[in-house]
Amino acid sequence: MRQVPNTGMADTSAISPRYAILGNGRLARHLRYYFFSLDLPFTAWSRCGTPQANTFAEITHPADRLERTLNHATVVLVALNDAAIVPFLQQHATCTNAHGKPLSWVHFAASVDTPQALCAHPLMTFADALYDADFYPRIAFACDDPARFRTLFPALSNPVFALAPDQRPLYHALCVMAGNFPQLLWQGCNAGFSQLGVPSDAVAMYLRQISENFIRHPDTALTGPLVRGDAATCTSHRQQLRASDPALAELYAAFERFFHQRQQTQASNRAAEIPFPDTTPGHPAHEH
Ligand SMILES: NC(=O)c1ccc[n+]([C@@H]2O[C@H](COP(=O)([O-])OP(=O)(O)OC[C@H]3O[C@@H](n4cnc5c(N)ncnc54)[C@H](OP(=O)(O)O)[C@@H]3O)[C@@H](O)[C@H]2O)c1
Repeated sequence: MRQVPNTGMADTSAISPRYAILGNGRLARHLRYYFFSLDLPFTAWSRCGTPQANTFAEITHPADRLERTLNHATVVLVALNDAAIVPFLQQHATCTNAHGKPLSWVHFAASVDTPQALCAHPLMTFADALYDADFYPRIAFACDDPARFRTLFPALSNPVFALAPDQRPLYHALCVMAGNFPQLLWQGCNAGFSQLGVPSDAVAMYLRQISENFIRHPDTALTGPLVRGDAATCTSHRQQLRASDPALAELYAAFERFFHQRQQTQASNRAAEIPFPDTTPGHPAHEH
């Protein structure tokens, strides 16, 4: 971390922002590493007091440590649990830094809407392992106000796209389904694969190629008995799954319903697009 001086700080906030990164969860760790890799000046705080997440770990009281952390900041990144963000902002958003300047607040939760902070939701998953430093600048942010994002983060080259606060709940639901639900499904299948002694490398290669095919050809990458219309195979799959993992069998049936409903919708959309033939007497279409 690029250290900021404890005392005698020059007020360069108008030229280059100084950040405070709050929290010690998954996102906070990734943000600290990203900002460190770009040599951006930041102080860090978390309520737990661990030195990795606290520039002023020697200050034992969390509130005092936070005050010192904010003293050096102009922009505060609130990387806390969704439920903690609004109460935290209500308590601290009027804090000023050591120069008496108000702070700009940013949070990263698509599900949180508050006028006290800019929302910048990274469209990425942050688990325990850090990414390579050159990966972070490619992560896109969904933001209430992209111009403000550029002002608060002039050194970041990340793509930013505009998303109005009232569109965020749907966007977030889609992110969760697209990003988290396949993993739940894969966890369920992995248990079965390992019981059958299927090598994990072979499964990994299969999943990697499935993802790659989808990214390249989202409309045509799907294969398997549903696409082939092989109803007997699907029935047998459900029976086998019901015996080994009833929850997976239910999921299988739900996916079948989803697939058939989507097929019907697509067929009726296509039918609506085809102009109805003119069958009035005398028109060529009427002769046939
Ligand atoms: N992880 C992702 O993939 C991802 C992706 C996009 C956006 N986000 C957003 O990033 C934010 C953080 O998510 P995360 O995955 O990093 O969560 P996380 O790993 O669960 O970490 C949450 C952090 O919040 C702290 N915290 C909770 N309540 C607090 C309170 N009242 N006061 C102070 N600190 C508190 C926790 O402190 P303790 O350690 O002391 O419990 C922990 O350090 C969320 O808003 C989330 O929506 C995450």
